[in-house]
Amino acid sequence: MKSIDQARTSYLDNALSQVWNIASTMEKALSPDQEEIPIPDFIELAKKIGSEASVDSNIRRCTLPMLESLCGTCHRCPLSETRTNVVFGCGSTTPLVMVIGEGPGYHEDQQGLPFVGQAGQFLDKWLASINLSRDSNTYICNIIKCRPPENRDPLENEIAACHDYLTQQVALLKPRAILGLGKFASQFLLASDKPMGELHGIFHIYRGIPTICTYHPAAVLRNLGLKRPVWEDLKKLAKFLGIGIG
Ligand code: URA
Repeated sequence: MKSIDQARTSYLDNALSQVWNIASTMEKALSPDQEEIPIPDFIELAKKIGSEASVDSNIRRCTLPMLESLCGTCHRCPLSETRTNVVFGCGSTTPLVMVIGEGPGYHEDQQGLPFVGQAGQFLDKWLASINLSRDSNTYICNIIKCRPPENRDPLENEIAACHDYLTQQVALLKPRAILGLGKFASQFLLASDKPMGELHGIFHIYRGIPTICTYHPAAVLRNLGLKRPVWEDLKKLAKFLGIGIG
């Protein structure tokens, strides 16, 4: 069975092809000698229009405070039953960088703020090393806004249920770059199932924004050998932004 996304894409592809056919029939009638231009492949365009149109229209109209309050009462997935607080995101509302992690842990769930535990303190040091901070020029959030029980991995339906919030956050905040942290955020943002070793340190585009991913601070705390590649990735980000190293 086709997914909703596939169905939407083929519907749009079909519609665009029909518009093309009408336009070329008219063109032919107006200038019969003109060479026929073959119908273009509309699949990529249909996918793009489809994914933009798929954002909930209520969410697309929200300002950041409205989005935060809407998200605060969200029941789109079962994590709403077990959360203490929604962890929407925080930081500069005109950020150079938007940091996107995986999802809230115990401390984040308790306080309603992202990256406030041990991994968060480590992340603050990384940001400071390239003159970024959540108080001045960085916004921090996660791909899912509610804590999974026992900090288990986020499920596909949970990530999908939260995606509209993330999309609208990115559209409103318009960061110069996105820094994705860890396997789940990276695979989601880069639409890939490759391992972190292949995803980190390379710029991609997510929703029109240059996006680079690196290892999750919690993973680096478990394996200090990852500090070096993280530092290389952070330097690439700093170079892209034209900011100094602290
Ligand atoms: N890990 C994350 O990915 N996000 C947080 O907010 C905290 C820990």
